[in-house]
Amino acid sequence: MAFRLLNRTVVLPTLGFGLGVATFMKAWPDEAGAITLNKGKQNTVETQVLPRSDVIQKITESRLYQQLRQDQNMQQSRQSDKIPAGHKPYHVGQGILFGKDKLEIDPLIFLNETEGKLTVFYHLGKDLGNEKGEVHKGIISLLMDEALCYCGFPRLPSKRGVTAKLSLKFNRDIPADSTVILTASVRESKGRKCIIDGNLQVYNEQHVLPGLWGEKEPHVQAECILVEPKWFKYFRRLNMF
Ligand SMILES: *[C@@H]1O[C@H](CO)[C@@H](O)[C@H](O)[C@H]1NC(C)=O
Repeated sequence: MAFRLLNRTVVLPTLGFGLGVATFMKAWPDEAGAITLNKGKQNTVETQVLPRSDVIQKITESRLYQQLRQDQNMQQSRQSDKIPAGHKPYHVGQGILFGKDKLEIDPLIFLNETEGKLTVFYHLGKDLGNEKGEVHKGIISLLMDEALCYCGFPRLPSKRGVTAKLSLKFNRDIPADSTVILTASVRESKGRKCIIDGNLQVYNEQHVLPGLWGEKEPHVQAECILVEPKWFKYFRRLNMF
């Protein structure tokens, strides 16, 4: 019983603390220092850049991608644009999990910060699967945590926070070697607290806007509660973030 429950709904109360901060904190004391410390790893990341051009082509030619690109209200970026170089080796998408047969493309991001709406395209390679060829739920949890934080952080007073609670519902397994779309939207934000809903779906050529956010049966559903600890404002003054 406990096992079944664990399989379907996982609540990760502390996971995001490390991730949210590690992912988005500015390299400190400075980037040069961080690079010296991690020279070996840094090089590994650079040489691992093997974009799956077939996947990128499939995504960029899709109607949904074209719709998002033409949407004046969406800012487009790649994940690597957002992460300071000194942090890439530690970053989930850009360091630890990046590379051939893992996260095989630089995730493509569309964000409207004020509206609190986010869409990200990933490709989950075959090495991210378990023995049954399904993507590990832990990996999905990390990606959801990271993306939902990214969507919600701009709503917090210091633009940074920590995950107080992440609830995940796994409706269906995702086969390894799949292109997926993550959508997230801020449901509620007030003061130092923000609630974000997210969905993860296997990419489908039929996906179009605006239906994407209202998908009835996504593979994974998530709810993330972010808070900004009171002491964060002092860090902000010191320009650590
Ligand atoms: C976000 O969307 C709103 C409309 O919903 C628009 O007014 C605003 O300019 C957009 N923001 C950006 C940064 O594109």
